Amino acid sequence: MIGRASILTYGCQMNEADSSDIGLALREAGYGLTSAWEQADLVVLNTCAIREKAEDRIKGTLGQLRAVRAKRPWLVVGVMGCMAAQSSEYLEREADFVIPPLAAGKLPEVLAGLPPPPGVGEEAGDLPPLQMEQETEFKRYLPIIRGCDYRCTFCVVPNTRGPEMNEPAEPLLAAVDRMSGAGVLEITLLGQTVNAYRHGEWDFARLLETMARRHPHVSFRFLTSHPRDFTDRVIEAMASNANVMPYLHLPLQSGSDKILRRMKRLYSVSEYLAVIERARAAIPTLAVSTDIICGFPGETEEDFELTLEAVRRLRYDSAFMFYYSERPGTPAVKLGDKIPVQVRKERLARLIEVQKAIQHEVNQRDVASEQRCLVERVSRRDPEVMLARTPGNKSLLVRAPRSTIGSYQRVRIERADSFTLYGEISFQPISAP
Ligand code: 5AD
Repeated sequence: MIGRASILTYGCQMNEADSSDIGLALREAGYGLTSAWEQADLVVLNTCAIREKAEDRIKGTLGQLRAVRAKRPWLVVGVMGCMAAQSSEYLEREADFVIPPLAAGKLPEVLAGLPPPPGVGEEAGDLPPLQMEQETEFKRYLPIIRGCDYRCTFCVVPNTRGPEMNEPAEPLLAAVDRMSGAGVLEITLLGQTVNAYRHGEWDFARLLETMARRHPHVSFRFLTSHPRDFTDRVIEAMASNANVMPYLHLPLQSGSDKILRRMKRLYSVSEYLAVIERARAAIPTLAVSTDIICGFPGETEEDFELTLEAVRRLRYDSAFMFYYSERPGTPAVKLGDKIPVQVRKERLARLIEVQKAIQHEVNQRDVASEQRCLVERVSRRDPEVMLARTPGNKSLLVRAPRSTIGSYQRVRIERADSFTLYGEISFQPISAP
């Protein structure tokens, strides 16, 4: 081992997936991976640029790393991920290397050019290992599309991750075969617009269906779908394969057609509603989540109320809600009618309150049901309580031994609040999904 390295991962699941590749490159270069980043010789930040808040957090960590460097002057700091795609004197100053997503393959070369840290192996064995999200042996992410060809005016991703690139189907199917053979229980297909997948004769519905049929004992999920690409064949693939989980993340962004046009989302509210209606009709247990932005330029109080109305009507199982954050280099920067930040935040608070009450009601529907849940890890509060996930992707707390981690358990849901279900292991035999 030539030294200790740590990876700090921010942002989306795509970054989680990329971090496992980064981890591989670090190991191959001779580093041992640790979660104790303050004591590492090399720290890679896999960054997010989606909103200013994400960047602020990362800048805070870079500040802390500067203090670490005072004590460990050989420390090497690398910045990868979406922030690395945006030219910045700040990053050039704070980091020893900056590699944007489209150049991620250059990491081994960059690592080979680094001077070896002093005090080789002096702390070997005594630092906690790095456990990456992606590295549980039972849950994996599989990127099938990288980049994005949509031009949503608020979004930085087309700039940071470049145009849409679809992986050929054969290596994807082979990757799923390998994971399944290695005992992976759940695979999540990833893409900024995952359901837009197309390569040769293959589209998303065919890919999903083929994988699901070939591996009936593996659960499949996918993230994130764009409403415009959501075909009835995908709904059919979900409805007719019990191992495609009944969960759909479908960002609405706004409940106002005027704002959707200004965002260049390319659908109307009624088209969006129609997709959800068809999906819910075909898949009775479907759970739906969404992303919503408050205070986009030009959003009037009436537009915002249309968003509240849509949210009340759609009754989402969960929602990721944000206030609009201006991203350098995106088309929306040039739009007029900016909303004061205070108003954006007030609207967000109102939206969160409405959604929280809905979630509380919606989650009561799960109470008294029995669901086949994947036990993921120990809960944060109590070592005897495990965190599991329902087929609809809801967090579930259940008292169970540690040995259940990485297994499916039948759980009877006893009660629910807005964010969590609480259950008891049900000692009925469990069958395949
Ligand atoms: N401001 C606020 N939220 C944003 N998102 C993307 N860009 C911005 C932005 N500039 C949100 C969208 C997207 C989610 C991943 O982040 O809702 O779906």
